[in-house]
Amino acid sequence: MAAKDKLVIFDTTLRDGEQSPGASMTRDEKIRIAKMLEKMRVDVIEAGFAIASQGDFESVRAVAEVIKDSTICSLARAVKGDIERAGEAIKPANSGRIHTFIATSPIHMKYKLQMEPPKVLEQAVSAIKLARQFTDDVEFSLEDASRSEFDFMCRIIESVINAGARTINLPDTVGYGEPSEYGLLFRRLIENIPNSDKAIFSTHCHNDLGLAVANSLSAVMHGARQVECTINGLGERAGNAALEEIVMAIKTRKDLLPVETNIDISHIVPTSRLVSSITGFPVQPNKAIVGANAFAHESGIHQDGILKHRETYEIMRAEDVGWNTNKLVLGKHSGRAAVKSRFEALGITFDSADALNAAFTKFKDLADKKHEIFDEDLQALVSDAQPHALVETYQLGDMEIICKTGQNPAAKLILNVNGKDVLAQATGSGPVDATFKAIENVVNSGAHLQLYSVNAITEGTDSLGDVTVRLEHEGHIVNGVGADTDIITASAKAYLHALNILSEKVAKHHPQRDGI
Ligand code: KIV
Ligand code: ZN
Repeated sequence: MAAKDKLVIFDTTLRDGEQSPGASMTRDEKIRIAKMLEKMRVDVIEAGFAIASQGDFESVRAVAEVIKDSTICSLARAVKGDIERAGEAIKPANSGRIHTFIATSPIHMKYKLQMEPPKVLEQAVSAIKLARQFTDDVEFSLEDASRSEFDFMCRIIESVINAGARTINLPDTVGYGEPSEYGLLFRRLIENIPNSDKAIFSTHCHNDLGLAVANSLSAVMHGARQVECTINGLGERAGNAALEEIVMAIKTRKDLLPVETNIDISHIVPTSRLVSSITGFPVQPNKAIVGANAFAHESGIHQDGILKHRETYEIMRAEDVGWNTNKLVLGKHSGRAAVKSRFEALGITFDSADALNAAFTKFKDLADKKHEIFDEDLQALVSDAQPHALVETYQLGDMEIICKTGQNPAAKLILNVNGKDVLAQATGSGPVDATFKAIENVVNSGAHLQLYSVNAITEGTDSLGDVTVRLEHEGHIVNGVGADTDIITASAKAYLHALNILSEKVAKHHPQRDGI
């Protein structure tokens, strides 16, 4: 059998994933995710878009400082300022990449860039030459490639490879591609461009028509050797191709696919959980690989088949991708060392003894209320326990909720606002409504509640409730998360978390929206 080619796995959870409305992450949260991606042996981590904001720059730089085994990449438009900022941000990396892009479709060039094709080509070439002054590892993306003209793509790709681009990415930016057509585009470009052997061709697909993974795999069948993807398929609008689906399709259908990846699949489920708890984007139960039902067999016929011979209905093993590793690990009598080591196994480390102490205290409080502590509980705890860059303008003190049949529930909270305790109270149509109204009576944020969701983190009525609150204010959308065994307390924490993010939100550039 012919040796398989290596497929480069380029994860963009921290960049394109963060472009999901409300999915913004703090620097420390990005570091935690990046550490899990490194453990999973992701080849390239796109850590952010350095020019977008000071926060993005610092996140890319911090990830570049901490991660040793994966290449760290920053996105940059094909302009001087962006490329210099990206170059600066990736400087500390063992291996750093600049990913620069410009739109090449007629519709983007005419209306967004307002540039003629020759000017776009010239700007792309200058961008690559400049980026090469910072690193040898330069990637070029033809934004909206799936709607670009073939001959123009041939010209621009040949020129940027001559200028030093080592990876050529053909994004299906608007999720318009169809698998056979998108795959053939790769084959035709690779066959027609004289220097195509000097670069790796890469796919980057959006899921607007639900085809992101199918399109990516088709590109791989036709010559792509890098896939850009995100954990849980997070990303702009309907999201990007899901890393876990790409990797498991390649592994499960190795009879068909001519490539292999370096990914350690046992970290897939824990990483999915981490991304979900940090972003507040729950994973739908029927989501492939990482959804709660992905390996659950309900029908009697299926259960019977599985008991007789597992492969009758299962094409992958749940435990291989990290399911069922969340056995009961800790309880009320567990010591600090055991708790610390379990946190570390989940990719969660503490910068100081104080941070560990705070997490341990929270763990003990939880263990008093809930005698079985699972990995998911620890992950939920840590978002509260770790010190992070977010300034907590609003903090929750005591709260009292009164619910009586036939009466509107009443909420009374002590909020700490900028260090001062303030009484907040209101009634509402339910206890959560009363709590949010009480908070708003003090804060007066003017924000609109766009989403409220509660999930039980583990089984049982003593489970932690994991609440997500999405708020919108003047075009900024943020997700706040909170966890507690009491779901009203979790709701208040999530609401205040969202308000704290909102009050800190800085204007960011947006890679596709902001023209050059
Ligand atoms: O979807 C897209 O076109 C992108 C590029 C910036 C690579 O995310
Ligand atoms: Zn994208």
